[in-house]
Amino acid sequence: MPGLEGPLDYSKEPPRHPCLQINAKEPFNAEPPRSLLVSSYVTPVDLFYKRNHGPIPIVDDLERMLPKYNVAATLQCAGNRRTAMSKTRKVKGVGWDVSALGNAVWGGAKLADVLELVGIPNLTSTTQSGGKHVEFVSIDKCKEENGGPYKASIPLSQATNPDADVLLAYEMNGETLNRDHGYPLRVVVPGIIGARSVKWIDSINIIAEECQGFFMQKDYKMFPPTVDWDNINWASRRPQMDFPVQSVICSLEDVNTIKPGKVKISGYAVSGGGRGIERVDVSIDGGKTWMEASRYQKTGIPYIADGINSDKWAWVLFEVTVDVTQSTEIVAKAVDIASNVQPEKVEDIWNLRGILNTSWHRVQVRVGHSNM
Ligand code: MTE
Repeated sequence: MPGLEGPLDYSKEPPRHPCLQINAKEPFNAEPPRSLLVSSYVTPVDLFYKRNHGPIPIVDDLERMLPKYNVAATLQCAGNRRTAMSKTRKVKGVGWDVSALGNAVWGGAKLADVLELVGIPNLTSTTQSGGKHVEFVSIDKCKEENGGPYKASIPLSQATNPDADVLLAYEMNGETLNRDHGYPLRVVVPGIIGARSVKWIDSINIIAEECQGFFMQKDYKMFPPTVDWDNINWASRRPQMDFPVQSVICSLEDVNTIKPGKVKISGYAVSGGGRGIERVDVSIDGGKTWMEASRYQKTGIPYIADGINSDKWAWVLFEVTVDVTQSTEIVAKAVDIASNVQPEKVEDIWNLRGILNTSWHRVQVRVGHSNM
């Protein structure tokens, strides 16, 4: 395992889009402004959020041997909307607004095909030698791993299931993966938190227990609001995998001044585990009454949350036109096809690492006479 031989080298970072809002420079963590985020169904590579724990590595090219699949999937960092959770009570971690996610078309080989190539059949949950998990080890160096690489694992049953669409991706939106997003090869595990989609893959191991890396065992776990840094027992919780249902208003910032009258409210909604979005409710009176927004993925094609006629791993964009006559709080909440709904209050899901803030998304608007 590579050790931390010298200081981490941030002098060879790739160029980045000037519109990105930088939340941390070294390691580089940035998200697009929310208004740009939902200006297209597929998030442009330059504007896709970038979440790193070390410098971006430089690596050589790779051969492509297996059939290529294109999978539209939303990657969402577990820390998305952390800044808002911190306002309730301080949490630890890089602050993120609402754009630590993006929707891309990932191109690559199915992990199930790769494992079959090395003798592990589809739909295997345990190998003859007792392997139950697939570990992905990167080549980047992270201080949390004492200079060792970022790593994570997923269950073998998921990795060997062709329908789970786990990819070893070398393309993003039809272009060769760029350095920021994992060139030459990254894992994309649709429907679960971004932390398990390891970039810059070095090795893949079949192991008996889940990966013991920092980001699996000492981070990205969901604790109840009662747990704090003085009473935390990391071993008491499982690594977070699926993400819950989420929605965010992107057409308005806190606190925009708008003219009285018709206002178009738009944003995104997404759920984990391939669960489609059944409904997005929008309120213009702080959550007392609701109206339903329309949902879409590709322009002009009606969205049906069945995972057959729609991209099951991808977000939906929503919009609704409302009549706002006075200053108010506009709220969004989504319901997925399992009827899971976002929790009302951030306090109820507060956790010390500030992950999975999926509380109702609220924006304050002031009605005045600006030109917005
Ligand atoms: N893989 C490596 N090797 N190193 C990392 O720091 N960050 C993880 C994951 N894979 C990370 C990684 C986290 S926390 C997230 S949310 C996603 O990558 C972010 O992917 P992106 O930067 O392509 O948007």
